Amino acid sequence: MRRILHVDMDAFFAAVEQQRRPELRGKAIIVGGSGDPQSRGVVSTASYEARPYGVGSAMPLRTAYALCPHCIFLPVDYDYYASVSKRIKEILHEITPKVEEGGIDEAYLDVSDLDESPEAIAKEIKRRIREATGLSCSVGIASNKLLAKMASDLRKPDGLTVLTPKEIKNLLWPLKARKLVGIGPRTELKLEQRGIRTIGELAGVAAETLVEWFGNAFGRYLYDAVRGIDERPIVTHRAPKSHSREVTFEEDTDDTAAVKSTLEALVRRVAEDLRSEGCTGRTVTVKLRFADFETHTHSKTLDTPTDVPEVIAEAALECLERFDISKRVRLIGVRVEKLSEKG
Ligand code: TTP
Ligand code: MG
Repeated sequence: MRRILHVDMDAFFAAVEQQRRPELRGKAIIVGGSGDPQSRGVVSTASYEARPYGVGSAMPLRTAYALCPHCIFLPVDYDYYASVSKRIKEILHEITPKVEEGGIDEAYLDVSDLDESPEAIAKEIKRRIREATGLSCSVGIASNKLLAKMASDLRKPDGLTVLTPKEIKNLLWPLKARKLVGIGPRTELKLEQRGIRTIGELAGVAAETLVEWFGNAFGRYLYDAVRGIDERPIVTHRAPKSHSREVTFEEDTDDTAAVKSTLEALVRRVAEDLRSEGCTGRTVTVKLRFADFETHTHSKTLDTPTDVPEVIAEAALECLERFDISKRVRLIGVRVEKLSEKG
């Protein structure tokens, strides 16, 4: 039986802000967009003090403000959170090289080959992360990635939860279907329309029926997932296929100079991402989304791969010139792909 840990930081962006600004500790804070609750933008995360007001990730900032007007709103400082995330991932890599980095605040570890018990390793991880960053995390321990991830979410914040196959019925089946990894709002709605609200109710649906409702791949996934079956291995390094950055304008704009300078800033960040990964790329793609949500892209492939910001910028600006910008622009993005590792 494998022993898998899932580590997930508690209220990550908010906790990082509270850590670097002690006066925010113990306060209801919301991190999202530009930090202006009247602006367009969504909540990235809310501190645990803000959650009882019903504020949650992906909610419009304006809605969050209506629910919690005394909350403190802060802008997203992604680069800083990424630097903290990097430090955390380094700590995990000191435990074992078998680390799969999930999102910015989560990772899986396969500790099957280690001598110590998974509980002892989990405690050690929590201690080291707290020591290095002041932050708390929740750890799930199970025989596979799916159950470990479900386990880390069972007792938050600062949890340490072992989930054995025997406990699936007791601990997972009473939960809302939405809590199952892979079920988002659309699937939740489809299930609700069929009278299914919990994971346990979903477990009562025959495999053929699930395939009929959701297609072969997702139907079978759901059938296995509710039973805690998941054979996926830990993937230690997933080489990125592309690097991209995009931004939504505060207000839709027809100011071409602003669009151009935003694109140049995005290019600089993508070039930094490429360099930090030791990659170069050949194809540069620029994406524009207009006020009516119509979205177009233009690409240019270079003769040789590059990570030089000026070269990428030149290609990106060439792409930009090919757009017919007769409508206001809502979002702009740039992507570099066909990556090669730098020799
Ligand atoms: P999560 O781990 O989903 O959330 P969290 O760490 O804030 O809180 P929890 O204690 O429940 O784990 O996501 C990690 C970070 O990713 C989160 O701090 C902010 C960011 N994020 C978004 O920007 N948008 C989102 O919709 C979600 C879910 C997360
Ligand atoms: Mg988290």
